[in-house]
Amino acid sequence: LASIEVDVSSLGPGMSLTAKWRGKPVFIRNRTPEEVKAADEVPLSDLKDPIARNENLPAEAQATGVDRSAGKDKQNWIVMIGSCTHLGCVPLGQAGEYNGWFCPCHGSVYDTAGRIRKGPAPTNLPIPTYSFVSDTVIKIG
Ligand code: FES
Repeated sequence: LASIEVDVSSLGPGMSLTAKWRGKPVFIRNRTPEEVKAADEVPLSDLKDPIARNENLPAEAQATGVDRSAGKDKQNWIVMIGSCTHLGCVPLGQAGEYNGWFCPCHGSVYDTAGRIRKGPAPTNLPIPTYSFVSDTVIKIG
């Protein structure tokens, strides 16, 4: 299947699920206001990878909190391929120093916007093409 639809109606703030798309895990998280704020407050100059890596935006878009999210009106939502950009392990959610994701294989640490902050992974977790088809259903692909 080229695309899938995922019902996210059960995800309250702070909750997440992992969907499967094209054989890969896709992390969907409804971030809390604190998690959104933590991501927003990071200066781009602190980022190892300042590129958004968001398929829904131009290739040169920067890795700001909003451009890593589902957009200004849905900034609480983040959707990413759950495959560490180092060697492809599946990172653990709500884990690590930034309470984002932590890769147990070699210790890469991602923040609440899925941006690489420490460890060997070279780039942010990639964001696939997706859209909200309703308030509670996300179409991926
Ligand atoms: Fe994630 Fe190596 S595969 S840190």
